Amino acid sequence: MNTKKIFLTRYLVEQQRRDGHIPPELRLLLEVVARACKRISQAVNKGSLGEVMGSADSENVQGEMQKKLDIIANEVLIEANEWGGHLAAMASEEMEGIYVVPNRYPQGEYLLLFDPLDGSSNIDVNVSIGTIFSVLLKPEGAGVSEQDFLQSGCKQVAAGYCVYGPQTTLVLTVGDGVAMFTLDREQGSFMLTEENLRIPADTKEFSINMSNMRHWDEPVKRYINECLQGKEGPRGKDFNMRWVASMVADVHRILTRGGIFLYPWDKRDPEKAGKLRLMYEANPMAWLVEQAGGAATNGKQRILDIQPDKLHQRVSVMLGSKNEVDRVTSYHGTI
Ligand code: AHG
Ligand code: MN
Ligand code: MN
Repeated sequence: MNTKKIFLTRYLVEQQRRDGHIPPELRLLLEVVARACKRISQAVNKGSLGEVMGSADSENVQGEMQKKLDIIANEVLIEANEWGGHLAAMASEEMEGIYVVPNRYPQGEYLLLFDPLDGSSNIDVNVSIGTIFSVLLKPEGAGVSEQDFLQSGCKQVAAGYCVYGPQTTLVLTVGDGVAMFTLDREQGSFMLTEENLRIPADTKEFSINMSNMRHWDEPVKRYINECLQGKEGPRGKDFNMRWVASMVADVHRILTRGGIFLYPWDKRDPEKAGKLRLMYEANPMAWLVEQAGGAATNGKQRILDIQPDKLHQRVSVMLGSKNEVDRVTSYHGTI
């Protein structure tokens, strides 16, 4: 496809026509999510000129302090998506339970999960942040419950993120590769700027919060230590390191030029499986990465195969260039 002048609507309509694997309701849903991302992007861009910076002086279900923009982005996504008739319910990092579409609107067959604002610690310092989302089909049956959301990542029917950086970029998969759209602010449209993104199997770039090194498990210590030894070490090459502290931005870099991202389990809070959340952070990113030829595991198994038992379940994450992810996974003794 010639990416010139293909805007998101046309891309989705063509996907729908090509082999009908995007039903019209899913197409509508994705357009509404993209519209919400545009509104969030506008709020982000206002910065100190709008009422969007700083703390909201409240805590979310994860015990994290909420920023004003966490709450604004959550509200924008709910308002945009509740009336269209394509959704049964939504779930978010910022809400303890699920949000069932109110009775005054028709109920659809899809479930939407999101991290409305990823990288909250970067809001006030003007560093890239984003929105991550995942779409599931509601299992057959009357009504909708939290249980309906507890599906493994391989059941996703669409997933993506929008990164609010120097450009606002939407990255999407419906299970047929990964496409990237850049927001044209004059036109107000997301324009297709790249199709069939591929992550190189090999890389010399890793992404991990090194300050936690002393808390990691042995396999992760071994992997990073070998990278740090560079040319003189067992890997025989020098590595570079990047850590934005916004998963969207780190994954975006990996989808663009390769690399490996790790947020492993660590001993600071051993009861928790990791820091990142499975259903609205790890699953959508794992699917995008796999669709681009990369790999995503928790060190022991494919992330997309994990059967969730809680909406806000956490998970250890290793994703990106396939050969590196396979290596660190093999250090955990499972492959
Ligand atoms: P969120 O802002 O949605 O809570 O997510 C932040 C996550 C993720 O985006 C990032 O990779 C990680 O937290 C950064 O954590 P550290 O501050 O521990 O490096
Ligand atoms: Mn997040
Ligand atoms: Mn968040």
